Amino acid sequence: MSTQTSKSDGNQNRSGTSPNGRPAKVTTQTVVEMKEAGKKISMLTAYDFTMAKIVDQAGIDVILVGDSASNVMAGHETTVPMTLDQMIYHAQCVVRGVETALVIADLPFMSFQVTAKEALISSGRMMKEAGVHGVKLEGGRTITDTVKRIVDAGIPVMGHLGLTPQSIYKFGTYKVRAKENAEAEQLLEDAVKLEEAGAFSIVLEKIPSALAAKVTDAVSVPTIGIGAGPDCDGQVLVLHDMLGLNKDFKPRFLRRYADLDKVMTEAVQGYIKDVKAVDFPNENERYE
Ligand code: KIV
Repeated sequence: MSTQTSKSDGNQNRSGTSPNGRPAKVTTQTVVEMKEAGKKISMLTAYDFTMAKIVDQAGIDVILVGDSASNVMAGHETTVPMTLDQMIYHAQCVVRGVETALVIADLPFMSFQVTAKEALISSGRMMKEAGVHGVKLEGGRTITDTVKRIVDAGIPVMGHLGLTPQSIYKFGTYKVRAKENAEAEQLLEDAVKLEEAGAFSIVLEKIPSALAAKVTDAVSVPTIGIGAGPDCDGQVLVLHDMLGLNKDFKPRFLRRYADLDKVMTEAVQGYIKDVKAVDFPNENERYE
C-alpha cells in the first residue's frame, strides 16, 4: 500500500517540486491548497498499471480509477454492472504504477447506497486491498450521512454531482443536467452539504458552465469538472477518450489530444503485412 505524505514533511505540492528536484506526492490536502492558491488541478482516469505509470510520470495531479472502466475496459453500455471486486482489481493495478499522483477510486453502483455501514465496509476494502488514497461516491443529499461516516473513519471522499452515470436508468439520458432552476438550486445545495459532510473535493459532470462557476465559488473544496466549463478548480477526462481510443464517443466537451486509434491500427496493419510477407522477423530479430 502506498503512503501519502502530507505537506508538513516539507514537500511542496505538484505544481512545484520537492527540495531534491523531484515532485512531491499529491495528497488530498495538496488539492485543497491548490484551490486556495488558484492553481488548476489536472485529473485523468486510469484502470491498469501501464497507463497509470505513463499518466503519473507525465505529471498528472490526480488519477481516478473510474467505474467508466465498465464501458472502457469491459465493453458494457453503462457503469451499472461494475462490481466492487472488479473495481478493487483495477485500483490495485493502478496503484502499482503510481509514485506521485493522488489515486481516488469510484465506489461502484450498489456498493454504498444500501446503508452507511455497507458504504464504510466497501470504502475500507478499497483502501486496504487496493491502497488508494480515497473514494468517490455519486450523489448529493441522500448520501451525506454516508459520506460523513466514511470521512469520520479516516477515508477521504470525493463527491460527484450533475450527470451521475450510475443513475442512468433513473434519468434515461446522458444529456446536460441542472439546466432548470430547481435542479440547479438543488445541485448547489448538494455541493454545500457534501462539503459539510467532509468531502475533500467534488466532481461536477455535464452541467452548465455558469452553474459550475457558482458551485465553485460556494464551496471551499475544489470542484473538478467534466463538461462543466472552465471555472471549475480542475478538469477531468476519461483517458481513453482524450487519447482518441474511443472514436465513436464525440461529446462537445471532449478534446482529443491524440489519435491513438489511428496509430494502433496502422501499427497492427504494419505487423500483419510484415508477417505475411515473411519480412518479420529479420536476421537481427532471431537467435542463432
Ligand atoms: O468513472 C469515471 O470515469 C468518472 C469520471 C468521468 C469523472 O466518474
